[in-house]
Amino acid sequence: MILPHKHQAAETTIFTVMSALAAEHKAINLSQGFPDFPIEEQLIELVTKAMKEGANQYAPMTGLPALRQAIRQDFRHRYGLAIDADTEITITPGATYAIDLAFNTVLEPGDEVIVLEPAYDSYIPNIQMCGAHAVRVPLLTESFLPDWGKIQAAITQKTKAIIVNTPHNPSGAVWTSDDWNTLATLLAPHDIFVLSDEVYEQLVYDGKRHASVLDNPLLRERAFALFSFGKVFHCTGWKTGYCIAPPKLSAAFRKLHQFVAFSVNTPVQAGLAAYLQLPTRAPAAMLLQQKRDLFIDLMKASPFTIKAATSGSYFQLASYAGLSSLSDKAFAQWLTKEYQVATIPVSAFYAEGTDHKLLRFCFAKKDETLRAAVAQLAKLH
Ligand SMILES: Cc1ncc(COP(=O)(O)O)c(C=O)c1O
Repeated sequence: MILPHKHQAAETTIFTVMSALAAEHKAINLSQGFPDFPIEEQLIELVTKAMKEGANQYAPMTGLPALRQAIRQDFRHRYGLAIDADTEITITPGATYAIDLAFNTVLEPGDEVIVLEPAYDSYIPNIQMCGAHAVRVPLLTESFLPDWGKIQAAITQKTKAIIVNTPHNPSGAVWTSDDWNTLATLLAPHDIFVLSDEVYEQLVYDGKRHASVLDNPLLRERAFALFSFGKVFHCTGWKTGYCIAPPKLSAAFRKLHQFVAFSVNTPVQAGLAAYLQLPTRAPAAMLLQQKRDLFIDLMKASPFTIKAATSGSYFQLASYAGLSSLSDKAFAQWLTKEYQVATIPVSAFYAEGTDHKLLRFCFAKKDETLRAAVAQLAKLH
């Protein structure tokens, strides 16, 4: 039996590989992007309450109205954005699903999609599984911000979409409104869709503000903005997210959604709807910024180099260039086996494995986990 060509696009993700290696060597896992600290008790109580009250059957295809309304209010409150809950918001089983479905909504075989590298590892396989081609454009080496000349040069007659990720995994770089304006000017003469992966939107540090594609009127009419409750409320295992897109694009997205997932876990949606409306929610960024600062401070005792504090997301990059000439993949595996700390090699975010001798550390961990991990790393010379 021969499997189709698209399976070549789907190797085992580095996150699965490194988490398995971490388990095998009983290593502290700073690789995969998930918190090891408990989520808010109130959120658990609200989901439990929803279950006990009978919210256990299929939710409407587009998501619970209460949750879509709560998202609408949340966006108005936090960003001053007007979003229509009925026609523009669709609840999804996580952001990865929403990204894949958005690609499926707009792509045909032979289309091209501009992917800015380093890139989250599902994008290129998602594109290839649509029979389309990823046109990889590197971000600037130090800042991980867009190289506009290279993006412009990558646009062809076949370009159907571009995918942007801000705050960026793995670097934590965040786009400003000016970046979005530049992209809008560049795309204005072309029929190119924008997919904007904003899963870390509430995790932006040092008083910076998240700039969403939704805030740019020229881009908003051609954009799918993708979000994850898992990331911002630290419940990654709940795999619940949403897509915001203009009514016409949302209608097309929903046509596919109804036959792929149809709907999303009802009690989790009900709990999130109630949680979003609480007046006293703790801002997620404050806790994570403290963890970032603690991690950077602890890392001073290790031989790794941190060039700049991350501006957003769960991740901090650090260089081991002064330490070893191994490739980043070999070094990350060696570190897991010999020093029991698992990380992600940044080359995994490049289709051709570009190696800048950087590792990605997830600092969304208990303080004691960070201390124990860095105590191990400090033994390295
Ligand atoms: C950039 C980016 N997009 C999407 C996701 C996945 O989000 P979800 O767990 O909601 O599918 C992740 C998870 O690591 C991510 O880093």
